Formats: sequence, C-alpha cells, structure tokens
Amino acid sequence: MQRQYLPASTLTGLLGSWADDSGPAYRVLADRLRLLIADGRIIPGSRLPSERELTEALGVSRTTVASAYRELRDSGYLMSRRGSGSVTALPSKVAPELGRHHAPGIDTDGLYDFTCAAPSAVPGISTAVAEAAGDLPVHLATPGYHPQGLPVLRSEIAAAYAERGLPTTPDQIIVTAGALAATSIAIRAITQFGDRVLTESPTHPNSVDAIRRTGCRVVAVPMSPGGWDLPLLEATIRQTAPRAAWMVVDFQNPTGWLMPAADRQRLAIAFARSRTTAIVDETLFELSLDGQELPPPFASYDPDGVITVGSVSKSFWGGLRIGWMRVPEALVARVLDARASMDLGAPVLEQLVVAGLLRQRSTILPERRLELARRRDALASALASELPSWRFRVPGGGLSLWCELPEPVGSSLVGVAQRNGVLLVSGSRFSPDGGLESFIRLPFTLDPDALRDGVSQLAASYASLTTGGAPARRTAAMIA
Ligand SMILES: Cc1ncc(COP(=O)(O)O)c(C=O)c1O
Repeated sequence: MQRQYLPASTLTGLLGSWADDSGPAYRVLADRLRLLIADGRIIPGSRLPSERELTEALGVSRTTVASAYRELRDSGYLMSRRGSGSVTALPSKVAPELGRHHAPGIDTDGLYDFTCAAPSAVPGISTAVAEAAGDLPVHLATPGYHPQGLPVLRSEIAAAYAERGLPTTPDQIIVTAGALAATSIAIRAITQFGDRVLTESPTHPNSVDAIRRTGCRVVAVPMSPGGWDLPLLEATIRQTAPRAAWMVVDFQNPTGWLMPAADRQRLAIAFARSRTTAIVDETLFELSLDGQELPPPFASYDPDGVITVGSVSKSFWGGLRIGWMRVPEALVARVLDARASMDLGAPVLEQLVVAGLLRQRSTILPERRLELARRRDALASALASELPSWRFRVPGGGLSLWCELPEPVGSSLVGVAQRNGVLLVSGSRFSPDGGLESFIRLPFTLDPDALRDGVSQLAASYASLTTGGAPARRTAAMIA
C-alpha cells in the first residue's frame, strides 16, 4: 500500500515551538505528535521521517526521537514495519481529550472535560419519553420507515419556522439524525467531487470533516476579531464561486458571534449572485442567553435558495439524535435521494419525543437559557481571576468562550492540562487550514463548581507551561 511520506521539514512545521514546553523532551514530542495524529493534521497511514532524519531536523538527541517514537508505538499511534518505516495509526480507543470525536463510553470521571460543547438533558425528557411511548402503538402497526420524518414532527418544525417569519410547509422539512447528519446529506445533494465549499474559520470541525469526506474542497474564510468580515466574504465568493457555503450565523461555534440582519441580507445576495447554495446551521439559535432578540432567519432573505439545518442537541439533549433540514421545495426530492443511501429515516420514538418537547418549548427553553447564562458567567469570572492574560469576549449566546492566549501554545497546553486532569481541544482543531495555535475553546456546559475547579487546574497547567514550573496537584473535587 502506498504510504504518504511526511518530510522532516513538514513535520517540524506542524510541530511548531514544541521544545519550549515543560517536561522531558521525548514526552513532549510524543504528546505533540499524538495530538497531530488524533486531530487529523497528520493522517493515519502517513510515514514519518526516520529517527535520524527527525533528529537532524529538530536538532535534538537521537534518544529523544527514539523514545518519543517508542512511546507512540506503545500507545498505538505508530506502527513500525520493515520496509515501510514508522507509519501513523489511530489506536482502537483514542483518549477523548486527544480524539477527533466525542467518544461516549470513555470514562472521563475524575476529569474536567472541556472537550464537548453540549449540555446535559433539560428536565422533562423522561416525561416526554413516557408520553411519546403512549403514542407509539399506532406506529407499531406500520413498517416505521419515514425517510422524510414523521408528519407530526415535521408540522411542529414547520410551524416554528413560520412563527419566526419564514413561511414553511411540512413538506419542506426532512428529519435527520442530528444536525451533522443533515449537513452531510445536504452537501451530498448539492455538490460533486472537487467542488468548493465555503466555511468560516474557526468553525465546527466535525462538519468540516463531513464536507471534506464528500471530496469537496473547503474554502475557509477567517472570522475577524469583530465577527464576520463581510467584504472578505464577498470577495472570496466572487473569486472562488463556491458551489455551496456552510455557515453558522447564530452564536457561531466556537466564537459565539451572532450575524446582524443587514449582514445576512448582504451575504444572501452575494450567494445568490454566484449561484452558491447556502447551508445555514442553526444548531445554536435557541441559546440566546441575554434576552437578545434574534435577527430574522438567514433563509428569510432567500427562502427558495437557502437550506437551513436545525437540531435539538443543544436546546433539549444531544442523546435524542434528532435534527432536520428546511429545504427549498425544488430541492426536496434531490435531498431525499441523497439521503436514501445513508439511512432510511430517524427513529420513530425519538421523533415523537421531540414533537412533544417542541410543543412545550416555550416553558422548557427559558430555564435552559437561565442555567447556561449562569454557567457562562461562572466560567468568565473564573477565567478573569485565574487567567487574566487570556482574552475573550462574553458572547450573548451559544455554549463556549473562545479564548486567545498570549502565546501560540494551544496544542502544548492540551497535553500538559491532560496530565493535570483537564481535557481540552486546542484552537487549531477548529481551523480548517491549521493555525489558531493561540486559541482554546472553553465550553460552559459543566456545572459552575466544576467550571471553577477546572479553571484552577487549567491555570496551574498554563503556569507550568509558560514558566516551566511544576503543575499543581489535582484537588479531590472532581466532576462526577
Ligand atoms: C454548529 C454545529 N453543528 C452541528 C453540531 C452537531 O449537532 P448534532 O448533535 O445535532 O449532530 C454541533 C455540535 O457541536 C454544532 O456546534
């Protein structure tokens, strides 16, 4: 099998300033390599430079490189085969803090887990499940396949769009297994291999992976420190004429920005001019935490051109695995066709549960927002007192703070913090093109005590990294 060879010069570039880190050099090198492999910046199956080549390129001792490679082999990230050299791999169980995916089943007890921007379930899910079970018998007499989604759920979703000023028929709704599945299906329906798809940078990494898996080329447009850079977006759309654009305009993940109405209108015009289909992910739109009224949905500026993606993962619970698409009428058949080879519909019981929860959303969501605002404020004040050199904006909604560190040490911090009981994802994982090493995303989904304790441990890790001191010992108060 042909292996992709990673020249020593490329690898040293990817490693960045790893040698400034604390701890034995071989261990730091192994940690950095592990993170690059787990993050997908070095793809599994790549052939690494030989020990001698890397030793020369890094200017370290041969023992450092040999020990780092040995540690990677022992942990399953490297395989050495005669004739093939050292080839990267992903172990069967990737530690969640280093992994590309959230990995249920991996035990994070006793750790402060800042890797996942998804809260636990709202109260009332069990009651909704019991009620839905009461509606189930009528469905048991049918095959239970609903490739477009249960009519009762599609009606609820369509009514919610109409309430927001976007007239929608139930026939325009396609229920999926979450927003990520909706994005995958929409991209498959709209694009062909090699097409360009515009995204923001930073943005939600799994969605970028989903786009790339279809063979599309991602054109990532950097967010500016003040949100979206409209002139840059317009120029990029003009120059690259992307086939599709995947955008998160409501409390963008990870920056938390909310796109103003005027910018939505400008962008919708630019997309329409270049015949770019906008796929707008509204996964976070229900999480306005300061009572701010939201601008009209992006699709209201081009109802027949824009595909909207929605989900209950953040508003109610990710474990329901229910999302959807609002699709222009002319595209419904094409999207359903693209879906048919992926799955044949979402589970009936969960769809009934979500229909019930949507009916009660005006009573459930205010409590959700209050609780998340409390957590956001707890995280912001803990960071302000424990890590005063970190800069962040307190967003009006969403689920995370996007923190800028004074130095580009994000990936190093992930490794050091892990040894100190704090699981992080480095900012670079949110960049489709790499970079963003000075950033860390911190979700505010843990409870306030855990957030405060986690930030203390994070501050100790950061201090040990930047001053070379020993990390503080873990306290007993860990999250359950
Ligand atoms: C913007 C965005 N889209 C999609 C997802 C995944 O959502 P779901 O659980 O509905 O697949 C997330 C989760 O973090 C997200 O932030």
